[in-house]
Amino acid sequence: MPVTNPQLADKHLNARVNALLAKMTLEEKIGQLVQYSAGVPTGPATDRQNYATMIAAGEVGSLLNVGDAKTANMYQKIAVEQSRLHIPLIYGLDVIHGDRTVFPVPLGLAASFDPAMVKETARMAATEASADGVRWTFSPMVDIARDARWGRVVEGAGEDPYLGSAMARAYVHGYQGDRLSDPTSIAACVKHFAAYGAVTAGREYNAVDMSDVMLRQVYLPPYQAAIDAGAVTVMSSFNSLNGVPATADPYTLTQILRNEWGFQGFVVSDYHAVYELIDHGIALDSATAGQKAISAGLDMDMEGNVYHMRLAALVRDGQVPEATIDEAVRRILRVKFALGLFEHPYADDKAPAYVATPEKRALARQAAEESLVLLQNQAHLGQPKLLPIRPQVHTIALLGPFGDAQGEMLGSWSGKGNPADVVTLRTALEARMKATGGKVLYAQGTEILTQSETGFAAAIDAAKQSDLVLLTLGEDGPTMTGEAASRAHLGLPGNQEKLLEAVVATGKPVVLIVFSGRPLVLDWAAQHVSAIVEAWFPGIEAGPALTNILFGDVNPSGKLPVSFPYAMGQEPLYLSQLPTGRPAGDANLSHPPRNAAEKYLSRYIDVPNAPLFPFGHGLSYTEFNYAPVTLSAQQVSVAQLQGNAPALEASTDVRNAGAVAGTEVVQLYLRIRGASMEEPVRQLEGFQRVTLAPGETKHVTFSLGFPEMSFINAQSQRVVEPGTEYTVYIGGSSQATQSAQFNIVK
Ligand code: BGC
Repeated sequence: MPVTNPQLADKHLNARVNALLAKMTLEEKIGQLVQYSAGVPTGPATDRQNYATMIAAGEVGSLLNVGDAKTANMYQKIAVEQSRLHIPLIYGLDVIHGDRTVFPVPLGLAASFDPAMVKETARMAATEASADGVRWTFSPMVDIARDARWGRVVEGAGEDPYLGSAMARAYVHGYQGDRLSDPTSIAACVKHFAAYGAVTAGREYNAVDMSDVMLRQVYLPPYQAAIDAGAVTVMSSFNSLNGVPATADPYTLTQILRNEWGFQGFVVSDYHAVYELIDHGIALDSATAGQKAISAGLDMDMEGNVYHMRLAALVRDGQVPEATIDEAVRRILRVKFALGLFEHPYADDKAPAYVATPEKRALARQAAEESLVLLQNQAHLGQPKLLPIRPQVHTIALLGPFGDAQGEMLGSWSGKGNPADVVTLRTALEARMKATGGKVLYAQGTEILTQSETGFAAAIDAAKQSDLVLLTLGEDGPTMTGEAASRAHLGLPGNQEKLLEAVVATGKPVVLIVFSGRPLVLDWAAQHVSAIVEAWFPGIEAGPALTNILFGDVNPSGKLPVSFPYAMGQEPLYLSQLPTGRPAGDANLSHPPRNAAEKYLSRYIDVPNAPLFPFGHGLSYTEFNYAPVTLSAQQVSVAQLQGNAPALEASTDVRNAGAVAGTEVVQLYLRIRGASMEEPVRQLEGFQRVTLAPGETKHVTFSLGFPEMSFINAQSQRVVEPGTEYTVYIGGSSQATQSAQFNIVK
């Protein structure tokens, strides 16, 4: 069902759009479809003049990569005062996980399973970005990512469409606020449309080929959730989908986005992607590239220099109807009017310089604490569990390349993030240990990517003198994660694994803290290290958040939004796999194990099917017990599932059986059997963060209706079918064992 965006559908606003459109020349119309990067021009832009001249002539509608109020106002003044129709520019920027106040990378934010908090981070980012004149962010990135080789896993919410949709809504609500016209609101841009996360073999910019069922069931829901939440712009993706480059794909850009979902905003290409249609091989020249893109529904050309140079001739030659241009202009002007750019084109360039206020730091710290995932926490040689760190621990060796690396904590796409704002683990740890008379021995040990072992001796020496080792290892945020950072090896880079082995060989208790933007292969570590924390890239409050978690001032609550493999060859690895006729029994506990000695099963002969750390996994310092699942009904009729109202309640009691308070992410999974299609062995359809005092029990209820119970059939329709059996699992990870069943009947 198409959803109308009231902010764009407003009658008065559309009357203004049409009145302005009526005054525009063809060149001025095309100008609105042109976006350039304010940085150094790239690509074959030899015929490009300077921006001031082009803006004054009405040839440019938008700039990206202007991040300061002065420059923004300088160009804006030209647009507003010198161009014939005084149409303001819209400034776009990649504000991805915070603007100047940098929060954890999006994958880390997703690990919080806390959309309300994520919304707050997006709101703060919007306030900071808009102060610099940026009223449009190229975020959220909602591409479902199931292959850890792809570097951009870090930019999204991971492998699952339900979690991904929840995060998509949170970002959009945060960026756009209650009203787009609020000067602190910024337009969201849902990207990268569509299915970019499924690039073949995890290789960046590669082709995607998938069934329409898979597209609609797994990959499209987060984009649609963002549109339904009000997102006013969309970015097309670099990949092709079933042989058609997404930047020129009428099926996704017009049929799905406009006709089916009712999207009224505009679509911008990804960087230079219109021109790259030539490299895709569907256009022999840039004119054809432009013709194919605009005809498919691609409104704004980011940096491609194609619309600017070729569209006018295409219209004059009759190859592109002027009505197509008009429609694209309308979509862009709608957003400019909705943002109130005509009333408030300028940023306040006298605003005081940025200060990381206590309020900003508190949100950054909360976000980081909630993003940290305690992967493993075992007893070490007869001692109690290593974490939380006990008061008896007097000397801590802090080792590895991430312990005191401010810039590394910001991760990829850190925008205006300033390493100087970051409090490192070393700084926070030293302050804390000093207060209790303890000691920190710091040694970096190695670099992120080197084979040199010159630092090993000092690290081993520090380890030997300590009661406990905190070893920080991982990937380089800017170069090994994010765009153009696909990896075929998912181990720790350089000689970090060697350092790990050497430190473990000292016999000292080791807590491994992993900094990464994707699941890494941590098999050796899981076998030899007692405690492991996944830290992602935590942002400016990395150090305080980590120490709070390590010492137990804050009980960890993060859960994995992606599955961690035993071995790289398992990729793509994800929870919601389709069943096979020969289940091996060790994936997701959905099948009773068959005879382990049986050969002809769907499995590897050298690694398990199951992940090392599964989706939804994350430990706490307390223990949560789950009572059996109860359902409000054993049967639901198809008639009850008309509309989106809940038709059934699934509930359980969750008890904090430990000695400390804690927050649990209670997760609900479904398996559907007996349908016309095979359905995943388990899929997430609900989660709630629940905080419990020691000994406390809470009754947790989930409502299920058509959105949760439906699936895509072979005709690409979202349906429920009579005669199907649903198993509901509720627990603290995707391995939840408490379950109950109901049926859908006629
Ligand atoms: C990326 C986008 C980004 C754009 C603008 C592209 O290379 O794929 O995610 O928004 O650049 O910076």
